[in-house]
Order: sequence, then structure tokens, then C-alpha cells
Amino acid sequence: MSKIFVTRKFPGTALDRLKESGNGVTISEFDRPITQEELIDKGKGCDALLTLLTDKIDGELVDAIGPQLKVVSNYAVGFDNINVPELSDRGIIAANTPCEEVNEAVAEHTWALLLALTRRIVEADESTRRGSYRGWEPNIFLGKSLKGKTLGVIGLGRIGTMVAKRAKGFEMRVLYNKRTPDTDAEKDIGIEFSDLDRLLRESDFVSLHVPLTDETRGMVNAESLGKLKQGCYLINTARGPIVDEHALVDALRSGHLSGAALDVFEVEPNINPELIGMENVVLTPHIASGTHEAREKMGQLAVDAVLQVLSGQVPENIINKEVWPQARANTEKELVRYKVA
Ligand code: GLV
Ligand code: GLV
Repeated sequence: MSKIFVTRKFPGTALDRLKESGNGVTISEFDRPITQEELIDKGKGCDALLTLLTDKIDGELVDAIGPQLKVVSNYAVGFDNINVPELSDRGIIAANTPCEEVNEAVAEHTWALLLALTRRIVEADESTRRGSYRGWEPNIFLGKSLKGKTLGVIGLGRIGTMVAKRAKGFEMRVLYNKRTPDTDAEKDIGIEFSDLDRLLRESDFVSLHVPLTDETRGMVNAESLGKLKQGCYLINTARGPIVDEHALVDALRSGHLSGAALDVFEVEPNINPELIGMENVVLTPHIASGTHEAREKMGQLAVDAVLQVLSGQVPENIINKEVWPQARANTEKELVRYKVA
């Protein structure tokens, strides 16, 4: 029997399956992110941790959990909360939960935000609820049409590709930027590769779909915002620190940017109070992957990775595949086999 600690309860049926797996499963009793101290206290002696993007997992933390720890399975697509090299050094497997359901959910939320901006849905809803509606008027809440406009997709991974595909339904032109051009996607979807400068200059909407890395941290800053076409809109459903929020506020305040929609923030859960005060800004609380379908699948994948590693199998969504030959889970299995033979 292995010991498994889950840092927070999540929706769906996967946790029941984990509990029925014959292992010793503990789930944090708190309906909030767990503190590092609590995580060490509850996780000590565990073979597996099932973590959330609000948990910070590094070498120091896993050392405190103990040498028996074999896997950290992160209930998220992004894993910038995990110091993967430090886990790899210790033979600990890291896994995440990329899947079509999450990609679709994030792509759909990106479009919900983009349309909320262009059709001023949030402002109009607030005004209507306040009782301001006096019947049809020719000049209230005029928005912008999408047809023929240009969407700039920065990062054409699985999510960025789905966002780009959906733009074609609105008859938009799509420019994308990616380290290596994706000629298949260009043919399949009808999109065009562009260097970053041109993408910024020519896009009416820019949507971010890169992971948070040293390279992408702060990539949307005063300089890149300055290159954006006058009146452009920015949508961020990726990670907050990709955008320098102060520079964004300045670009919105000066009118250089027409609006921004953010699902993620530089220092979560804090939100720059200036953004909160702006009418041309739409804010959602990091819910882009928040559909029932996506969260169910994320839970199943996160649980699969835990159970697979604990039974000596390489999980499908392993992040540090190269570690497997030296993985604690794998080498222990070898030892068991040797003993049996
Ligand atoms: C959510 O932000 C995720 O990375 O799954
Ligand atoms: C809008 O409701 C219109 O009929 O023009």
C-alpha cells in the first residue's frame, strides 16, 4: 500500500477512484490552497503527491516529504509551479494533465473573453442590471466586428492551435508566432507564420498561448506593447507573469490598447487595482480550464499518473520522461524483481 496526499479536493469522480485503489489516500481538509508547512506536515512519508498549480514544488519541498516520494502529479496543464529539474535530479517523476478537453475549454474561454471585449458584454450587462435600459438606441455599447480582422496567436501549441482554428469560423485572418513554424497547421487551418514584431504591428487582437518560462516571463512589456497596432486588444489565458501588468495599465490608460481580457494575473490572487477600475478590461478568476468536462478529465489524468507510477509504469503525461530509467519508482521495481527472481 502506498501513501498518497492530495493537496486539495477537486470536482468529478477521479478522487473516488483513487480512494478505492487500495492505497492510503489523504485529501487536504481545507477549501483553500495549502501552505508549504501544511503540505510538508501532511505529505511527509508519502509516495505520491497530487498537487495543484497553487502549490510550489521544488527540491527542498520534496526532500522534506522524504526519499520514498516517487511522483508529483500536477492537476494542471501548466507546470511552472514545479521545479522539474530539481525533481528530476532526485528521480521523482512529474506529470501534468494536458488533454483535448482542457485545450477546448481554454480555447473557448479565450473566445468568450475576446467577444466579451468586442461586444462589451460585461459593461452592457452591468448597465442593464442597473436599470439603464430605456429601449433600443442607435448609439449604445457599439462594439467591433471580427470578420476580416487579424488575430495574432503567440504560441501555437495545442491550445493556440484551437484558438486559431476557431478564428476561421469568424472569417478572420490569423498570424501566429512559434519557435518552429508549423507548416501542417498553416495548411490545415489557413494561418500564417509571422515574426513577433510583425504580429504585434498587424494584429487587431493578440492572444497569448505560451507556457511561463524564463524566456516568456515579461515578454509582453512596455516595448512589445508599444509595437502593438493602435486600438489592439490583448487576451491572456496563459500565465499572468508573461505580461508586465504595470506596462499593460499604462497602454490601456493612454488609449494605445482598446482593451484587455485577463484570466490570469502577475501575482495571483492579487489583481492590480487599476485594472479593476477600467471599463475596457474584462477579468475572470483563472477559470479558462473550468468546464465540467475538462476538470473531470484533468482529475482522471492526474489520478492515472499517480497510480501508473506507483505500479511501475511510465505515465502517459510524464513531463520528465528522460528520468524514467533512474526513477525512484522504476529502480525500486527492479529491486523487487531481482528479489523475486
Ligand atoms: C490552468 O491554468 C492549467 O494550467 O491547467
Ligand atoms: C436591432 O435590434 C435592430 O433591429 O436593428
